[in-house]
Amino acid sequence: MSPSSIGQRLLGKVAVITGGASGIGESTARLFVKHGAKVLVADIQDELGHSVCKELGTHETITYAHCDVASEFDVQNTVDLAVSKFGKLDVMFNNAAIPGKLEIKAVDCDIENFKKVFDVNVCGAFLGAKHAARVMIPAKKGCILFTSSLASMICANTPHAYTTSKHAIAGLTRNLSVELGQYGIRVNCISPHVVPTPNFKKTTGITDEKKIDEAVCESAVLKEAKLEAKDIAEAALYLASDESKYVSGVNLAVDGGYRLTNPALAVAFNNMIPWVSCTH
Ligand SMILES: NC(=O)c1ccc[n+]([C@@H]2O[C@H](COP(=O)([O-])OP(=O)(O)OC[C@H]3O[C@@H](n4cnc5c(N)ncnc54)[C@H](O)[C@@H]3O)[C@@H](O)[C@H]2O)c1
Repeated sequence: MSPSSIGQRLLGKVAVITGGASGIGESTARLFVKHGAKVLVADIQDELGHSVCKELGTHETITYAHCDVASEFDVQNTVDLAVSKFGKLDVMFNNAAIPGKLEIKAVDCDIENFKKVFDVNVCGAFLGAKHAARVMIPAKKGCILFTSSLASMICANTPHAYTTSKHAIAGLTRNLSVELGQYGIRVNCISPHVVPTPNFKKTTGITDEKKIDEAVCESAVLKEAKLEAKDIAEAALYLASDESKYVSGVNLAVDGGYRLTNPALAVAFNNMIPWVSCTH
């Protein structure tokens, strides 16, 4: 072990990260490479994906593949490319997703949008797991990860299609962890609170990061901390590393405890009653 590899928690591991060109995926690719993993970034933003890989490492450590996760052909090729280039696949991080249209009222929902969100967020993630399992089962080890969302745990006025798709990811995590456990494959998902990624800004139309931070911090349970994409990457690093070797079937919230609160009553009473006084 060279001195520079000491403390590298993914040394010798090979990972595929879908949606790895931007936001949480890009941050995870950065951290995984830092921890000694060989990484294949799979995305549909080709120019950005190539430039991220160029910035993060050499052709020997990180590479880019165009992969629309909604296409089984693309996903199959991506997994096969990881195996042919790096020799195996240890970690499949199914992170790519789209928010879809911001439709909050059921009566206004466009069912074509609903299907598109499911094609990418649910079928796309499932295809990643399916093809990862294909190569992990003979190896009798592996780690499949998904990015779900806090929307899988609480109702926060996120669109119905997106919310349902993230619940589906949590269900898929549990089902797959039971089916694939017999082959030594662990399956987990991560549920982030708001992270001001390009996706979040584009979806909400709020581009001022300071304003996003202020709103999140004001409503947060956990004070004196700010959630960043790299915090989700740290959760992925833990779940991908051997340090979590007996952790499977978990939906890990990275939300500072936000899912446990509902300040609505306190707000409604407008802090009139001391025991429901609202600190948010
Ligand atoms: N940012 C947040 O507040 C937040 C909160 C909870 C969950 N999430 C989840 O985190 C994950 C990453 O989102 P992000 O916020 O980093 O967004 P992002 O837009 O920065 O990154 C998403 C990436 O996925 C890629 N992508 C989209 N459709 C794809 C497809 N069909 N095939 C392959 N790649 C595709 C995009 O090109 C992009 O690079 C998503 O699953 C999202 O639902 C984000």
